[in-house]
Amino acid sequence: MSKTIAVIPGDGIGPEIMAATLEVLDALDCGLVYATVEAGMVALEKHGDLLPKATLDAIARHQVALKGPLTTPIGGGFTSINVTLRRHFDLYANVRPAISFPGTKARYQNIDIITVRENTEGAYLAEGQTISEDGEVAQSIIRNTRKGSTRIVRYAFEMAVKKGRKKVTAVHKANIMKTSSGLFLSVAREVAKEYPQIEFNEMIVDNACMQLVMRPEQFDVIVTTNLFGDILSDLCAGLVGGLGLAPGDNIGEHAAIFEAVHGSAPDIAGKGIANPCALLLAAADMLDHLGMVAKGTAIRQAIRDTLAHEHDAATPDLGGKGSTRSFAAAIARRVRQA
Ligand code: NAI
Ligand code: MG
Repeated sequence: MSKTIAVIPGDGIGPEIMAATLEVLDALDCGLVYATVEAGMVALEKHGDLLPKATLDAIARHQVALKGPLTTPIGGGFTSINVTLRRHFDLYANVRPAISFPGTKARYQNIDIITVRENTEGAYLAEGQTISEDGEVAQSIIRNTRKGSTRIVRYAFEMAVKKGRKKVTAVHKANIMKTSSGLFLSVAREVAKEYPQIEFNEMIVDNACMQLVMRPEQFDVIVTTNLFGDILSDLCAGLVGGLGLAPGDNIGEHAAIFEAVHGSAPDIAGKGIANPCALLLAAADMLDHLGMVAKGTAIRQAIRDTLAHEHDAATPDLGGKGSTRSFAAAIARRVRQA
């Protein structure tokens, strides 16, 4: 049975890393059909709209999208396309795996952490951000809801069960932010009781930062609110060698958008040296989401094997001598052999 997904190549290095990613997906025989649509600068130039209705419709129809990085023009009052997509489809879970890969210059080699970040509320509300007329007092609000906290914590536990994970750590600051973070923590404790097979742990965010740097191997799944999740997931990406290997999944009830965490990298666009791995790992997560777990695993293993045994084929950011194409070709060859 074939499944159609929306494909958004995106801006800058987007089309290069998307072509590489689709090459590997094709090598896996996933039975995917690609509905290619536009967003970002490409769409603005062609259709006068950063996020055309046809693109939103395609995501709504197919419910799954693989998305390259999009450039939001600075100035002109454009809101971030990524934020717009998150709001439009209520993509409440931002799932950010950080996995160690061999042959990187990362500080640690034994990390396998998934951060599950609440993506719609917390400290990142558009409303309620004010500054006094004299410019002396700025204010913003933090709003966590029981519904929002419950669905993100439940998502983390359900994911942990599905992926055979052992432990969920709720990260909070309930000792100081007694109401907002307190609500999140009390919901986390309640939901945790429904999953006796998963170890539940709670940690205050500042301690979590230190623990992540000192002993990252103690973490498995982290679930947290919007601001803490934004920061912690980048911290985790740094532990495993930076953005070149960091996928980001945006999951809602009715749609899911899989992307690389990095941006459109205008400094290297068109040079053929962009690392395709972050988008490829996002594609692997997408295959898991579509129930093709063995194929998702095959992509991660092929990246691991290529880096371990054929490191020269990798792109320069990972210390290789290769190009986007040589890297993708090496990975595609390995998934074909698997
Ligand atoms: P960036 O992530 O595009 O680049 C930061 C640095 O990392 C650059 O030196 C770049 O060459 C390098 N880099 C990024 N991805 C790479 C890859 N796959 N392989 C090798 N090197 C890579 O961040 P920057 O420069 O702040 O943003 C550029 C544009 O991207 C902006 O317009 C921004 O709005 C957009 N952006 C879009 C995102 C998305 O669509 N999810 C996320 C972040 C930024
Ligand atoms: Mg961020």
